Amino acid sequence: EKGGFEHFMIKEIHEQPKAIKDTMTSRIMADCDEIKLDDIKLTSEQLKNIDRIYIVACGTAYHAGMVGKYVIEKLAKIPVEVDIASEFRYRDPIINEKTLMIVVSQSGETADTLAALKQAKSKGARVIAVTNVVGSSVAREADDVLYTWAGPEIAVASTKAYVTQLIAMYIIALYLARLNGNISVEEYRQIRDEMLTLPEKSQEVLDQKEELQKFAASNYMHKDIYYIGRGLDFAVALEGSLKLKEISYIHSDAYAAGELKHGSIALIEKGVPVIALASQSELYDKMVSNIKEIVSRGAKVIGFAFEGNSEIEKTVNQAVYIPKTLDILAPVLLVIPLQLLAYYTAVEKGCDVDKPRNLAKSVTVE
Ligand code: F6R
Repeated sequence: EKGGFEHFMIKEIHEQPKAIKDTMTSRIMADCDEIKLDDIKLTSEQLKNIDRIYIVACGTAYHAGMVGKYVIEKLAKIPVEVDIASEFRYRDPIINEKTLMIVVSQSGETADTLAALKQAKSKGARVIAVTNVVGSSVAREADDVLYTWAGPEIAVASTKAYVTQLIAMYIIALYLARLNGNISVEEYRQIRDEMLTLPEKSQEVLDQKEELQKFAASNYMHKDIYYIGRGLDFAVALEGSLKLKEISYIHSDAYAAGELKHGSIALIEKGVPVIALASQSELYDKMVSNIKEIVSRGAKVIGFAFEGNSEIEKTVNQAVYIPKTLDILAPVLLVIPLQLLAYYTAVEKGCDVDKPRNLAKSVTVE
């Protein structure tokens, strides 16, 4: 049942090219200028009335939501707030008929997410559910549904569900942006064509796994490992850090790299491993100077960038490259090496990778 792999998690990591492809199938198609979404009935008239979007989720799904905020604001130009479901519910959020809520939940059964959805519905909001389980509670309660086609995810640590949630965020962003006319057909085509290359490019990333295995083998004994990035890279840094702590039990935090100097940089000492993500082109130079700041304080940095952006090599201890794609799509490719890093680190430590302590696959208590 593990298809020759040692754990479900590594099997599911390898299923990502297919999961990405399946989630796009019949929705985003080459030579078709329209996005086809069977279970989303929102019309352009209804969208005109929407003045804000809340994306609400927990854990890994929340991290996908952070990417969603960025791409929806960028493409559809509608203000988006992202909230942790257990916080959203108790902060008295402003919800009315002009609100669109997007809930993201692999299982579709997370108690906090479901409760936030019900609260929004009762106040007149329209709800789109992004879920991996057909007929799940969130799918039933929502007005519109976008299924992620990741297939069953068995490992407690979410991997393939996360990348399909990212694809769902791009699909929704593009859908809204076409519906309200904020992007042209030409702009749509450019993003569509690039999205269609992601299955192949994610396979190329998987083929680099030995490098990450080596890094894990020489760093698994560390007590703290930090992740830094700016913009979308920060969202991915949070996800990479969560993966590491939940399965390897190593203490880890993710920081917005520009925020380091406002306090957290005090933690950097000689030999501490830092994973630095530098995919975003507008932020690349800024990232390089942030990396220099921590290297000069003794950090051992593994830097991630697009192929061709080799400037980081001058500063970092090790560089890992991902295939070139659009900046907005980078999270899909960038998260894969971080999943592998977490996986190999946990294996080196002899942890129960598929069933980490204290965690359950679906959290149905509040
Ligand atoms: C982490 C992980 C959790 C879930 C969270 C939400 O790897 O799996 O953080 O993402 O519990 O679960 P769903 O998506 O089922 O609502």
